[in-house]
Amino acid sequence: MQPIGLFDSGIGGITVLREVRRLLPEEDLLYLADQAHCPYGPRPPDELRAIAAACAGWLIERGAKLVVVACNTASAAALTDLRRRFPDIPFVGMVPPVKPAAAHTRSGVVGVLATPATLAGDLLRDVIDHWANGVRVVSQTCPGLVEHIEEGMFDSPATTVLLRRYVVPLLDAGADTIVLGCTHYPLLLPQLRALVGDDVRLLDAAPAVAQRVVQVLHERGWTGAPTGTPGSVTYATTGDPVRLADLIDRLDLPRGQVEPAVLEACVAPHGPRHIA
Ligand code: DGL
Repeated sequence: MQPIGLFDSGIGGITVLREVRRLLPEEDLLYLADQAHCPYGPRPPDELRAIAAACAGWLIERGAKLVVVACNTASAAALTDLRRRFPDIPFVGMVPPVKPAAAHTRSGVVGVLATPATLAGDLLRDVIDHWANGVRVVSQTCPGLVEHIEEGMFDSPATTVLLRRYVVPLLDAGADTIVLGCTHYPLLLPQLRALVGDDVRLLDAAPAVAQRVVQVLHERGWTGAPTGTPGSVTYATTGDPVRLADLIDRLDLPRGQVEPAVLEACVAPHGPRHIA
């Protein structure tokens, strides 16, 4: 069976894989964690397009029938380019879920946590232009947070300091709804919930992205009769497979085989590091 391919700069996109697995348990899933180029967020659009093309090409060479860009940053910079480069492959991308946030807010203020490249991209700007409807959208970049997550520093005091630094200004601005505009951030959901309390809504796009994957498979007639056999989950990383497997275990994410991956040369590995 041809797998559904997914990629991200690291473990963040596994929050999307988890939802796809929930809705499509019989599909084979192939996930590429491009940890050698993590973080994506501070990189310029031309680098992100080169990296995204290499990741998508890697998945397609391994038979992916559909590619989920399980990363807001890569979607913002590269989704249009990917669709042009690989016209025979359906792509499902993502954008911070400002539309449902604007529909739900009572205070009239929505916070968005995302990377610089996502905040600078047209996808988010278009969504805000179309759907914010008079709601105030307050954006916040989160330097260092992705690196802390990739290092497995979920409960560390340094991570709490960063979360406070990024979330408190949104609360002070009156946000009652906060959009998690990076697929890594749902991995800090317990810590975020402890910080914002029960009255603030935290929105993650992963369930909607998984629904969209189901819809595309239906449209193409690619969903067969149920077999009752669970599909396989395979992870590949351009970083260290042992460390990725350890993070997957610690976060209780879907288990699978973890392999090394080498991408076609695109841009230099490792962008700026922000570990405090
Ligand atoms: N998880 C990614 C996103 O959704 C990328 C984070 C990063 O590498 O900066 O934007």
